[in-house]
Amino acid sequence: MRVPVDGDDEVSQLAMTFNTMARNLETIDQSRSSFMGNIAHELRTPMTSIKGFIDGMLDGTIPEDMSQHYLTLVSKEVGRLTRLIQNMLDISKLESGEYRVNAQSYDIWDSVTSVAFSAQERIDNHHIEVQGLEPKRTSVYADPDLVYQVVYNILDNAIKFTPDGGWIRFGVQKSGGFVTVSIRNSGQGIPKDVLPFVFERFYKADRSRGLNARGSGLGLHI
Ligand SMILES: Nc1ncnc2c1ncn2[C@@H]1O[C@H](COP(=O)(O)OP(=O)(O)O)[C@@H](O)[C@H]1O
Ligand SMILES: [Mg+2]
Repeated sequence: MRVPVDGDDEVSQLAMTFNTMARNLETIDQSRSSFMGNIAHELRTPMTSIKGFIDGMLDGTIPEDMSQHYLTLVSKEVGRLTRLIQNMLDISKLESGEYRVNAQSYDIWDSVTSVAFSAQERIDNHHIEVQGLEPKRTSVYADPDLVYQVVYNILDNAIKFTPDGGWIRFGVQKSGGFVTVSIRNSGQGIPKDVLPFVFERFYKADRSRGLNARGSGLGLHI
């Protein structure tokens, strides 16, 4: 809805303000409905394969000796759904201001090493060489849970995009009252032109990879 603006008196000013507000609300509405569409799509894709595999096992299309294989796939897809839903819950908590930041003084290497430890199996499976994991006491004032989550999401991407036999390099640098954590990986990297978009919800540089990739597309947004 828009109101006509004619002239430059106070009423016209008001009309213009109203129109701007209406435009802003429309944009919010559009981004909300495209967010809902994305969520529905991200939920439906794993649901469809889970249903297909289970139905195939029930009606015998999938031979019994293959059921172990298909149950593993079902378990992976359920894991993906769980991560997606957890990510969505985290985002709504952060955005509504409901999350209470619990900052404290601690050693940032505690976060980095425990994330690396939790990913050890995947790192080994892909024969990835880990570099720079040499903890050197570095005190920060931050929320350990939030830092863990961010480091986890970035390492998760690094593992996903490192070719087998590649490397991942950790770094922690102190400068001017700030501490920078870096996680680099061998591989194609992120093209410069897509860099501005990677923090958007559900953004994936390579859409075709979306189907089977383990990410929810919300990692960097968080
Ligand atoms: N280490 C990386 N190497 C190459 N591309 C990356 C890397 N990290 C992130 N990206 C790109 O940024 C996108 C968004 O990352 P993210 O929000 O974590 O979503 P997801 O991991 O679910 O794909 C990825 O889909 C990918 O295109
Ligand atoms: Mg990710």
